[in-house]
Amino acid sequence: MTVLAAYSDLAGRCALVTGASSGIGQALAERLAADGTLVVLAARRADRLHEVADLIEHAGGRARVEPMDVADTTATVARIRALDAELGGFDLVIANAGVGMSAKGRSRVAWESMADACHINFCGAAATLTAVLPQMVERGRGHVVGISSIASFTPIPGRGGYCAPKTGLSMLLECLRLELAGTGVHATAVHPGFVRTAMTAKSKGALPFVMDPPAAAARILRALPRAPATIDFPWQLATVARAGAALPRALRDVVLDAVAGRRP
Ligand SMILES: NC(=O)c1ccc[n+]([C@@H]2O[C@H](COP(=O)([O-])OP(=O)(O)OC[C@H]3O[C@@H](n4cnc5c(N)ncnc54)[C@H](OP(=O)(O)O)[C@@H]3O)[C@@H](O)[C@H]2O)c1
Repeated sequence: MTVLAAYSDLAGRCALVTGASSGIGQALAERLAADGTLVVLAARRADRLHEVADLIEHAGGRARVEPMDVADTTATVARIRALDAELGGFDLVIANAGVGMSAKGRSRVAWESMADACHINFCGAAATLTAVLPQMVERGRGHVVGISSIASFTPIPGRGGYCAPKTGLSMLLECLRLELAGTGVHATAVHPGFVRTAMTAKSKGALPFVMDPPAAAARILRALPRAPATIDFPWQLATVARAGAALPRALRDVVLDAVAGRRP
């Protein structure tokens, strides 16, 4: 039986999506709601969340706005637990909230450049994913999904503050998947390539195989019912990144330096 069949059979299917105020999270929320799921929309900008909720409700779906800063992990866990109890249990939790590296640091190797990404992309995601995992295991159903990145596959010079929390998130989900085997609860790490969102809007570099958020959301939600360990797309970029990660380090360093334009 597919996971989707397992939870779509239940009346009052319920999902939490963090980072639902824009980009991939908004697209995931809209698509889940269109499919009949009650979606809890979480992010920091309450005004944006209300706009997304209005869009969902005008389209006939159900949404609830929950302003939340996932970097405050204690408050995040407490709020998700309270919502889980109030709403009768989440069937799906998607830890999507994330940021790129910050311009606050005096250089890309300064803590200030990576602090937000570490707190939000790893700690915030880990808190979101695990807040009600014991409750899901007791119920014998549920699915936790983390939006990681193809950037988690291989080191990228100057992007350690983004790659490292994403690699940690993917590793956490792999561990959870093994730990949860046989419980009826599933864990999936999603590794998107480039998606046209606020996060990539300022990028001056090439964005090969870039896709729009609705296409990315469709790709993710089409695959989720099989509860795969990972959802990697586009396959062309994922294949190149995984192959790069498998190279011997000395060779990989030369390739990465060439890509970064540091050697002829
Ligand atoms: N775009 C890409 O090419 C790409 C590729 C691979 C992976 N990803 C990942 O996809 C996820 C979504 O990113 P996106 O591209 O859709 O960018 P986006 O449009 O900037 O969305 C990021 C979302 O995260 C929320 N967020 C940020 N910090 C938060 C916090 N402390 N607490 C709660 N919510 C927070 C933002 O809402 P508020 O500002 O309202 O809080 C926003 O809704 C991220 O995890 C990102 O790393 C993106």
